[in-house]
Amino acid sequence: MPNKNICILGGGGFVGRHLASQLAARGCQVTVPTRQRQRAKELLVLPGIEVVETDIHDHAALERLFRGQDAVINLVGILHGSHKDFINSHVKLPHRIMSACHAAGVGRFLHMSALGADTASKSFYQHSKGEGERLVLEPGRTHDLEVTVFRPSVIFGPGDSFLTMFADLLAMAPVVPLANAGARFQPVHVADVARAFADAIDDPETFGQAYNLCGPNAYTLAELVRLVADTVGLKRTILPLGPGLSYWFARLMELKPGTKLMTRDNHYAMQTDNVCPDGFPARFGKPRSLEAGLDYLRGGTKGHYDSYRAAARR
Ligand SMILES: NC(=O)c1ccc[n+]([C@@H]2O[C@H](COP(=O)([O-])OP(=O)(O)OC[C@H]3O[C@@H](n4cnc5c(N)ncnc54)[C@H](OP(=O)(O)O)[C@@H]3O)[C@@H](O)[C@H]2O)c1
Repeated sequence: MPNKNICILGGGGFVGRHLASQLAARGCQVTVPTRQRQRAKELLVLPGIEVVETDIHDHAALERLFRGQDAVINLVGILHGSHKDFINSHVKLPHRIMSACHAAGVGRFLHMSALGADTASKSFYQHSKGEGERLVLEPGRTHDLEVTVFRPSVIFGPGDSFLTMFADLLAMAPVVPLANAGARFQPVHVADVARAFADAIDDPETFGQAYNLCGPNAYTLAELVRLVADTVGLKRTILPLGPGLSYWFARLMELKPGTKLMTRDNHYAMQTDNVCPDGFPARFGKPRSLEAGLDYLRGGTKGHYDSYRAAARR
């Protein structure tokens, strides 16, 4: 593992920042391409991590980026967008990455999917994640590339958007209407997800495998929001919406300009429980519990930055 060259596409995002820090701490040289260096600003000061502005949708640029890399990790993903956007990010991009790995002589590829990825799903997110998975694990396509796929439930930790979004909403209103309040999740900590990726890189037993990643316990969305309210010390009324109202709430939120709180696509994805009965794969260690890992919700962004530095042991 030390001195390996690893390229993380999407490395400037929430999971990517934690994974890049962990890999740097293990002595790897990490390259993080981004559309805008500023997006990965927390990584710019960490030794062992190089942030480069690149168009990862350009085959020649990808091939140049991958030359000399021992492994490529794909974390690129979107939660909102058109059907075309989902296909571009979750299906066409992995295809392009695998071609560029082949052209650049890279032999190892780790791909981030999502729990519930399913080509039969009505949600474009889950459908396109399912297509992407099928493509990267297709026998024959991977003859010179060892592939591992990860499917996490919702990921929490410093810098997340999901629980932080609820903390922000709870701070704004005394009554919070909650669509799909009964939807079930099994949140997994970002450091555990990053460790699974980092451990798998050199582990031949993970080649050709796909792993579900969940934390120790499952919660309904209402339980999660209640836990967030308790953690940040707010007494709030949570108003669960029924199925019909949940749809119309998602429809309304979709029309809101700027950052999307929810869309119909999220609503469709939430109709299926996002849990894994087998929990976290034992080969990647023990996952931390949600209750033990929510301190970051009480702090500001400095806490996030400190966590990357701590992970990178700087
Ligand atoms: N967070 C969760 O709860 C969760 C749960 C299950 C699965 N996942 C999956 O895990 C992966 C990482 O999630 P995350 O929460 O870290 O996401 P994130 O913070 O939104 O980061 C996503 C990254 O993808 C890149 N990206 C997005 N759209 C792109 C595009 N059109 N062209 C080029 N780059 C693009 C961004 O790169 P720039 O630096 O250029 O902006 C960003 O660094 C995703 O595949 C996601 O679907 C996440």
